[in-house]
Amino acid sequence: MTAVKNFLNTGDFDSRDLSRLIESAFQIKAGNAIGRPLEGKSVALVFFNPSLRTRASMQVGIYELGGNPVILEPGGTSWTLEHRDGVVMDGNKTEHLKEFVRVLERYVSAIGVRTFASLENWEEERLDPVLSAFVKYASVPVINLESAMHHPCQAMADMMTIRENLGPVKKRVLLTWAWHPKPLPMAVPNSFALAAAQFGHDLVIAHPDGYGLDDELMTEIQSHADATGGSLTVANDLDAAYDGVDVVYAKSWGSKSFYGNPEGEVANRASFRADWIVDERKMSMTNDALFMHCLPVRRNVVVRDEVIDSPRSVVIDEAENRLHVQKAIMTELFR
Ligand code: CP
Repeated sequence: MTAVKNFLNTGDFDSRDLSRLIESAFQIKAGNAIGRPLEGKSVALVFFNPSLRTRASMQVGIYELGGNPVILEPGGTSWTLEHRDGVVMDGNKTEHLKEFVRVLERYVSAIGVRTFASLENWEEERLDPVLSAFVKYASVPVINLESAMHHPCQAMADMMTIRENLGPVKKRVLLTWAWHPKPLPMAVPNSFALAAAQFGHDLVIAHPDGYGLDDELMTEIQSHADATGGSLTVANDLDAAYDGVDVVYAKSWGSKSFYGNPEGEVANRASFRADWIVDERKMSMTNDALFMHCLPVRRNVVVRDEVIDSPRSVVIDEAENRLHVQKAIMTELFR
């Protein structure tokens, strides 16, 4: 693997390097010794948003690699942060990222960042402004723990879970939009779709009209699919989308057209509630598919109990694999 500075997006790596990381995660999961690459080092974990899996798995992973996690919550347990350059900071932001990062890296050897989209301005948020500011000011590695546009650690755990259950061969994988009472960020579907193409799967993305992923990202996904021998299909017909797939990956996300208009978005999606849920009827049309979701998930809204509680549901393994794959990523960063 070429020298790695940051882990921001699987698109920054080639498929062979990503596969090697997953092989390394399997070794870690099997209990094979990998030493203590973080011995004597601290890693900052900066959470602008809530988390269970990412926070706990990173904290435990850093500890198990011999390091010390330092958790910071801007606006909670640390000062509110401004990320824009050249602004007059006379509002509610107390500290600039420029000082925050430069101070922090005097103490720590890497910085993990969680910073969701605020769903206010699509054209700005699709450029990942907060994560980009961390990268701009940091001289230590930056790990994306879910930004406005990407959740690469989740996508790597997802690819590991598919391989663990179905083997290292390409599969027919459905990423389906699901109804949810409020619009959510697009990082998980973006990263899942990108990684699925990089791993050569035949990817079907099903969503209602108006809920397409970023156009530039779709071009990137198509070009990876072309390079790896996979394929990309976008479906609006739900039943056709489920037909014969090996994996059903459910996730809700907001429409780009409604950034800045959450009430309009909620009204727009109301008519999709009845159909856009994963249930047993739809799962019966698949090739005995695995059910996957990054969690947290709203039961009987995104997925019916009968599906998430079935033997084909791998959501807990998927969450466990976050730990193993993030240890593999951090080991690579500190080689
Ligand atoms: N899947 C995931 O990132 O979970 P958390 O939001 O709980 O970290």
